[in-house]
Amino acid sequence: MACVVVVGTQWGDEGKGKIIDLLAEFADVIVRFQGGSNAGHTLVVEGEKFIFHLMPSGILHKGKTCIIGNGVVVDPKVLIEEIDQLKEQGYLQDDSQFLLSEQAHVIFPYHKQIDKGRERIRSGKIGTTGRGIGPAYEDKVARDGIRFVDFSDEEVLRKKLEANLAQKNYYLTHVLGEEGLELEPLYQEYMQYGTRLRQHVTNTSLFLAQQIREGKQILFEGAQGTLLDVDHGTYPYVTSSNTVAGNACAGAGIGPTQIDLVMGISKAYTTRVGGGPFPTELSDEIGEMLREKGGEYGATTGRPRRCGWFDAVVVRHAVRVNGLGGLAITKLDTLSGLKTIKVCTAYQVGDDVITEFPASSELVARCQPVYEELQGWHEEISAVKEVSQLPPAAQRYLERIEELTQTPIHIVSIGAQRDETIIRHNPLLS
Ligand code: GDP
Ligand code: IMO
Ligand code: MG
Repeated sequence: MACVVVVGTQWGDEGKGKIIDLLAEFADVIVRFQGGSNAGHTLVVEGEKFIFHLMPSGILHKGKTCIIGNGVVVDPKVLIEEIDQLKEQGYLQDDSQFLLSEQAHVIFPYHKQIDKGRERIRSGKIGTTGRGIGPAYEDKVARDGIRFVDFSDEEVLRKKLEANLAQKNYYLTHVLGEEGLELEPLYQEYMQYGTRLRQHVTNTSLFLAQQIREGKQILFEGAQGTLLDVDHGTYPYVTSSNTVAGNACAGAGIGPTQIDLVMGISKAYTTRVGGGPFPTELSDEIGEMLREKGGEYGATTGRPRRCGWFDAVVVRHAVRVNGLGGLAITKLDTLSGLKTIKVCTAYQVGDDVITEFPASSELVARCQPVYEELQGWHEEISAVKEVSQLPPAAQRYLERIEELTQTPIHIVSIGAQRDETIIRHNPLLS
């Protein structure tokens, strides 16, 4: 298939980076289309760990083009650090391997300051990553944003930055009680970033259209997860972009008719970092075991992730709003050693049983999971090569997920490394 979109089906950190790195071998182009450096995508290649916040997770493969699309909000400092680090490690030797949309919006220090300042004074904390994501998207929608294309004219950039600072400094000093920022040093700093990134900045929508015309294989790499989507997630405990597959089109500048398949990534259990409702959350020793065995600490902020059982109501919701054609189940190995494993099939609120994910986060917070209990298995499974070689209870667990989500499992991940993966169906090879 030519164009495959990969998205998270839960609250992020499902293992998208690992799966994208794995599938990138079969792709020509890998594209990020939303979010920013709030993402933390981990790859473990030949024992070495890489965490990418902005760079698409296909970048370790030679000869592939990696793109940051127009829908991403980009902190140029973080991006340049990632580029430098990659080059130091012997990757990204060819600069044309990485393209950045001229329409992508730029994150400035005031976005991060406002993000953190608001979070400080907010009751009902979202627990944002503090990377300036919300304020940058606000500016984009308010039509105040600064884009990479603005760096091509020094006067345009200076004027836009000056106008923004007038507003932001008022907000920082009068509302948040913080120090404002000076124009000149900020302008100079950002001009340097602009100069450094100039060779990568281009019309990436046009590039993608050419690639599609030539029949190239394109992977779209989602960030965050469906339940963090600003429309379809646990609003207001969400991020500020549409994380669902539909946004691959708007965020990369392609049309919906060009998408061939959407694959959803689900952890074999559930995690969440930050505030907001989480019906299957476990605050007992099993939750602790999942966190420790699964290494469930944020790849961006290092915060401990909240852990709980697999929630089929959540993943069914993701199947619908993304139009998922297949699933990749990750971290099945983390469940080894549990006597029994629970799966949430519905929610109970008072006398009512709910099978569709509610729009109200207040209602979600009152939902009690209805569990089904399945047999666990004790064997470690990371060396297994075929689903049929998995312990029967693990096979049954996967079958039950397929039944409950009405979606076929294409990939089973049983460890962080590339070869710790069972590929039943490679969407890029069909
Ligand atoms: P992403 O944001 O969706 O890319 O996920 P993260 O990188 O934030 O978190 C996933 C974590 O799980 C990373 O540390 C991965 O290296 C690790 N990981 C991915 N797949 C597996 C798996 O199947 N088993 C285990 N044990 N770890 C995995
Ligand atoms: P990846 O791509 C998990 C969460 C934050 C917070 C909420 C809003 O690695 O899966 P933001 O900084 O975006 O305004 O924070 O969203 N969040 C993530 N949680 N994985 C992520 O990305 C996340 N990106 C944002 O913790 O609850
Ligand atoms: Mg992550």
